[in-house]
Amino acid sequence: MTETSALEQITATTNNIPANVEVDNSYENDSSYGDELSSYSASLRSSVLEYRHENGRRYHKFRDGSYLLPNDESENDRLDMTHELCLLMLQRKLYLAPIKNPQRVIDLGTGTGIWAIDFADQHPEAEVIGCDLSPIQPTLVPPNLKFLVDDIESEWAYEKHPFDFIHARNLLCSIKDFEKLIKQCYRSIKPGGWVEFQDWDGYPYSQDGSLEDTGLQKYFSEVYGAFEEAGYEARPGPKLEQWFEDAGFVNVHVEKFAVPLGVWPKDRHLKKVGTWMRAQAEAGYEGAALAALTRFKNWTKEEVIVLASQARADSRNRKIHSIYDFYVVYGQRPEN
Ligand SMILES: C[S@@+](CC[C@H](N)C(=O)[O-])C[C@H]1O[C@@H](n2cnc3c(N)ncnc32)[C@H](O)[C@@H]1O
Repeated sequence: MTETSALEQITATTNNIPANVEVDNSYENDSSYGDELSSYSASLRSSVLEYRHENGRRYHKFRDGSYLLPNDESENDRLDMTHELCLLMLQRKLYLAPIKNPQRVIDLGTGTGIWAIDFADQHPEAEVIGCDLSPIQPTLVPPNLKFLVDDIESEWAYEKHPFDFIHARNLLCSIKDFEKLIKQCYRSIKPGGWVEFQDWDGYPYSQDGSLEDTGLQKYFSEVYGAFEEAGYEARPGPKLEQWFEDAGFVNVHVEKFAVPLGVWPKDRHLKKVGTWMRAQAEAGYEGAALAALTRFKNWTKEEVIVLASQARADSRNRKIHSIYDFYVVYGQRPEN
């Protein structure tokens, strides 16, 4: 099977996930896997540049405590790995919405800004904004890109200056009220403009029961359970379509991708996807769990490290065949 046909097989619209991702039982041959300055928001105050340090990790300070993952170098490396994973799934496309000649674009929760940088490069005619709680983006970026430090869950002031395209990716466990956020997007997109969210159902599953009673499963139930108790949405992917429709978007389109964790699939494309998935997951287990479990569930740092190391070991166990669903959902504001 060619890479393209394998991808088509798993990417076709919802409900078309293969019932059985075939396991690779041959354990050999794994070796290949294994000067313009941007302007931050003009109003950037020194307090925005301060950080919170806790358990050896660095966190944002603006709207302190509202996002529970770190923003230090090792987390930022993980975000860039996840960008590569998303490109691999989407056949190197940054987005799937059928946008034409966008003039004003915003990337919500831009992280390291890597998506916004690529988008601004590909669309020099567009004015692009990347918005995040953390000022962690590079300064050497395309001249048509600007980063803002802001809270996308607070009220927006973009209705008088709306966008042609709004993009948001990987915001699971970041946002408390996706419905409100998507309604804000609707109010701030031009008639005929497109909004695209790419996000996960954060909980893994296995088609053969191999995930049951593993350290990996325990990790997700403890960590995402803590996020959910604290009010964060850990499974936005499967709910996006309904939220888009409720907000008033038309031409809503959904694509669902089955993303394996690890090198266990036989199919070459899925093995590569699983390798990137594992790389970013291993880089993130500790960081994703630390604040959620220590601040909300009274775990110690040492207990979190043990849980994360079990998850890491299970990610490398080829007998555990875990899969995560990733959704790309886009919709259009009606023309009139
Ligand atoms: C997992 S990262 C995803 C980064 C980027 N979208 C990507 O796909 O590479 C989530 C990002 O959302 C940001 N974030 C979380 N809550 C936010 C909020 N209320 N307002 C703005 N940014 C937020 C975090 O600071 C973090 O950079």
